[in-house]
Amino acid sequence: MQPVTGQGEASGDGIVFHLRGVRYVYPNKQVALDGIDLDVRRGEQVALLGANGSGKSTLLKLLDGIIAPSDGTMTALGADVAAVAAGVDAFRFHREVGLVFQDPDVQLFSASVFDDVAFGPLQLGLGRDEVRARCDAALAEMEIGHLADRAPFELSGGEKKRAAIASVLSLHPSVVLLDEPTASLDPRTKWVLVNLVRRLGAANRTIVTATHELDIVPIIADRVVVLGEERRVLADGSPRDVLVDRDLLIRANLIHEHLHEHGGERHSHPHEAGPDHHHGDNPGVRHHDVVPASPAG
Ligand SMILES: Nc1ncnc2c1ncn2[C@@H]1O[C@H](COP(=O)(O)OP(=O)(O)OP(=O)(O)O)[C@@H](O)[C@H]1O
Ligand SMILES: [Mg+2]
Repeated sequence: MQPVTGQGEASGDGIVFHLRGVRYVYPNKQVALDGIDLDVRRGEQVALLGANGSGKSTLLKLLDGIIAPSDGTMTALGADVAAVAAGVDAFRFHREVGLVFQDPDVQLFSASVFDDVAFGPLQLGLGRDEVRARCDAALAEMEIGHLADRAPFELSGGEKKRAAIASVLSLHPSVVLLDEPTASLDPRTKWVLVNLVRRLGAANRTIVTATHELDIVPIIADRVVVLGEERRVLADGSPRDVLVDRDLLIRANLIHEHLHEHGGERHSHPHEAGPDHHHGDNPGVRHHDVVPASPAG
């Protein structure tokens, strides 16, 4: 295999991730990805969109080199991902690439938040002062310095998420993979995270963020990749182009078309994916899930 190139360098052509015809099939035979073609360049900020079960988390685990493709070719930082997943040069690889898992319980395993945030830097063999400085900075970045001595399993969902993000930031990875980082964050903390992603981007880190929150996409990404229900890339373009393509967004289940009846009048309009919306108790307003939309009344 090719070695991992040092210090966050992509391969000579600036490609960080290169995937062709990548499939991933879970041991229970569930096909999660079925023919992914994708290149990500150094310094890109990519938003990864797709309905539940479309394969976003699976793709991020492949990019993080913790699982290997079942089929197809894939390199990350110039290394063969199948080899990295088998442990070859994995330590060096994970200095460069950090994944914040969708479920923070997967990421937090130490007796205290501080220990979890310090784990990566200690593994790197850094000195005590450097470890302490990195941890303090990462905890401050996520505004959880006050939680440093708490046990992770005693935290709220959002606090755990922030601790999990801090535990990746302390590694200073050049490639940051975020799986629904704003899920379960309160509105203020969500914007702390959005600003963090922007700052990392400005520092030329490569960032791939899986999210269902369309409102943050233009702020945190310069490129949008949509996974379709066929478990392949359905669209790949700028936020400006992809997010205005209403038919595409409906097809990918990223927005939801509702048909409303107001008295005798009918109209339809899209809603962002999310919890069902309500129209109060007005009995004159009914809505049905209808795809495709019928013409406005
Ligand atoms: N550990 C697993 N074992 C078997 N199948 C799995 C496993 N994890 C995920 N899958 C399946 O793989 C497919 C892709 O799942 P994945 O978690 O990658 O989707 P996702 O796009 O991240 O969804 P969500 O938006 O709900 O997080 C789904 O059909 C899912 O049921
Ligand atoms: Mg997921």
